[in-house]
Amino acid sequence: MESLKPADILDLEKIKADFPILSREVRPGVPVIYLDSTATAQKPINVISVMDDYYRLSNANIHRGIHVLAEEATALYEDSRKNIARFIKSPSARQVIFTRNTTESINLVAQSWGRANLNSGDVIILTEMEHHSNLVPWQMLAAERNLQLEFIPVDDHGLLDFDEYRSLLELNPKLVAFTQMSNVLGTINPAAEMIRMAHQAGAITLVDAAQSVPHFPVDVQDLDADFLVFSGHKMCGPTGVGVLYGKKQLLEEMPPFLGGGDMIKKVELRKFTPNSIPHKFEAGTPAIAEVIGLGAAVDYLEEVGLDKIAAQEHVIVDYAIERLSEVPGVSVYGPEAKDRGGVTAFNLDGVHAHDVAQILDGDGIAVRAGHHCAMPLHDKFQIPASTRASYYLYNSVSDVDKLVDSIYRVKKIFRS
Ligand code: ALA
Repeated sequence: MESLKPADILDLEKIKADFPILSREVRPGVPVIYLDSTATAQKPINVISVMDDYYRLSNANIHRGIHVLAEEATALYEDSRKNIARFIKSPSARQVIFTRNTTESINLVAQSWGRANLNSGDVIILTEMEHHSNLVPWQMLAAERNLQLEFIPVDDHGLLDFDEYRSLLELNPKLVAFTQMSNVLGTINPAAEMIRMAHQAGAITLVDAAQSVPHFPVDVQDLDADFLVFSGHKMCGPTGVGVLYGKKQLLEEMPPFLGGGDMIKKVELRKFTPNSIPHKFEAGTPAIAEVIGLGAAVDYLEEVGLDKIAAQEHVIVDYAIERLSEVPGVSVYGPEAKDRGGVTAFNLDGVHAHDVAQILDGDGIAVRAGHHCAMPLHDKFQIPASTRASYYLYNSVSDVDKLVDSIYRVKKIFRS
C-alpha cells in the first residue's frame, strides 16, 4: 500500500549535513535520532567554525583593549548583538542584553525591575504551565517582598483558561509573566493578545520565549512585549549565552543586577556611576565566543527561514500526534497540532517514563524523560513524569515512524 505519510518541507538531507553530530552512531550500527531539541538543540558547522575561528584568530577581551585583536573581538561581539536585534525586530541593539541563559534573564528582571517596583501586596500573574525558571525567581521575590502570586489555569486540553485570566486581571497585577510556548505541552499561547490584555490592566509583561524564538518568527514590537527572554543553546547556538530584550525606558530606569567591570561609567572608593544600556547589565568578562556563536546561529536560522522551520515542525507534530495516539496505551498531553509547536510529551500505560526513554535510547532515539522542570504542570495532570519527544529543523516525519516503532518495542518488553 502506498504510504500516506506527509512530505517534509525542508531539504532534510542538506540540513542534516550541516550538523556534524547527526551523522554519528551512538553505538555501532545505531545512528542517532535526536528528538531532544527542547532540552538543547544541535549545532550547525557554521556556529562551531565561527567559535573555533574566534579562539584561533581573534581571542581578546572586549571593550577594553586598543590593540587589533581586542578591536576585532569587540566588533564580532557587537555585530552579534545587532544580528539578534534584527532577528527579534528590536528597535535597537542597545535593548539586547546578553546573559547566561533564559533563567538568568528572568532572575535579572526579578531582582532589578522587581525589587525596584514591587511592594507588599502587589500581584504577579503567572501560568500553571511555566518552567521552573519562570516560577522560582518570582517565588523568591514574593517571599522577600510579600507579593501575591496568581496562576492562569491550564485546561484538560493544555490551553490557558482565558475567562480566569480576565478575572485575575481585575486584581490589578503589576506583572504578567508567561511562556510563549510550553516546553511540555507544546502549547503556543496567544502572546500578543495576552500582552494587550495585561497592558489594559496596567501590568508590565515578561515573555519566556525560550521555546518560541528558536522555532517561529517572533517580533518584539508586534507583540509589544516589555521584556522577552530566551537562550542561545535552544536555537542552534552554544550554551552559556542568553538574551534579555527590554523596552528602552524600562531598561534605562532599572538598577544594575550584578556589579563589576564593564557595567560602570565611573568608580570611586565608596560609589559608582552605572554605564548605559546594554553594558549596565553585562558585568565582568562575558561569554565572548558564545555570543559570537549565537550571532552565527541567527545567520543560519535566517538562511533556512524561520517560516519554513515552523511549517516543517507543524507537519511533524501533526503526524506525531496522529501516530502516537494510534498506539494502544499511549496518552499524548497538550492541544491539537494547530495550537502547538514541535513537542509531544506522552506516557505509556504501566511503564515509567524513564524506562520508555531507556529503551528508546537502545534504538538510538534521544528523548527526555522526567518532569522537564515543570513539576507543577505534571502535578496538575496527576502524573509524576512524562517522556518527551521534541522536533527541530533537522527532524523528518520518518523520525516519528522510528519513534513509534521503538515504542512498540517497549510495549513488547513490558507486555503493556
Ligand atoms: N528547559 C529545558 C527542557 O525543557 C531544559 O528540557
